[in-house]
Amino acid sequence: MLISINNPKQHCRWHPYRSTTELEQAALQAILDAARQAIAQRGAFYIVLAGGTSPRRVYELLRHASADWSAWHVYIGDERCLPPDHAERNSRMATEAWLDHVSIPPTQIHFIPAEKGPAAAQAYSQKLAGIELFDLVLLGLGEDGHTASLFPGHDPGMALGAPDAIAVHDSPKPPPQRVSLSARRLSAARQVMFLVTGAGKKQAVHDWRSGVGIPAAVIAPRGGVDVYLEESLLSQAK
Ligand code: 6PG
Repeated sequence: MLISINNPKQHCRWHPYRSTTELEQAALQAILDAARQAIAQRGAFYIVLAGGTSPRRVYELLRHASADWSAWHVYIGDERCLPPDHAERNSRMATEAWLDHVSIPPTQIHFIPAEKGPAAAQAYSQKLAGIELFDLVLLGLGEDGHTASLFPGHDPGMALGAPDAIAVHDSPKPPPQRVSLSARRLSAARQVMFLVTGAGKKQAVHDWRSGVGIPAAVIAPRGGVDVYLEESLLSQAK
């Protein structure tokens, strides 16, 4: 079932699923389809990974998928300023769940050197300089409506001159220090897919659909965004 809701800047396609298993299978197929298409048309696939816990199962499914891994180029939407081997690093989660198990050339996996602190945003902006459009950006949604490390009450970096990556010093979600791609950079994509699971997200989904300017609602790629979510999150919030 596909429901289309317009927001002046963001066009949202909502994909509700009865179970997280169905959602994850559908997300897996959509990612592999996007990769096949990009590689067929341009010889390469540029993907931005989401952090948090919601995408982990999808990454584990990718581990067993057949794909032309040699043509994948992997980036990450945000990172926590922790040592690279810290259990809470988004890069470690993606590596353990998937990247360690497939043959994507290590030179084509570009994590944020967030162990260097929020100032790593500058280095990562330089790394992104040569990429005009990502083929696919994966994003999560926080209970307060944040996405990547773009939090309510903070500038999401959507303005034309906004940097590609933003230094975050006071994230309400621990750890406080993070690096995030800006909303402008995350919107420079052929496809954007949100993976939204967890009962705690109901109010944020309700706000999003009722036009409240949560950070997730600022992500506005030309082709619109696809939100894969649990059907139960669509029912009336309190
Ligand atoms: C992070 C994430 C963050 C995440 C949401 C949802 O580093 O914390 O990038 O934006 O996607 O907080 O997190 P869950 O998927 O764990 O609910």
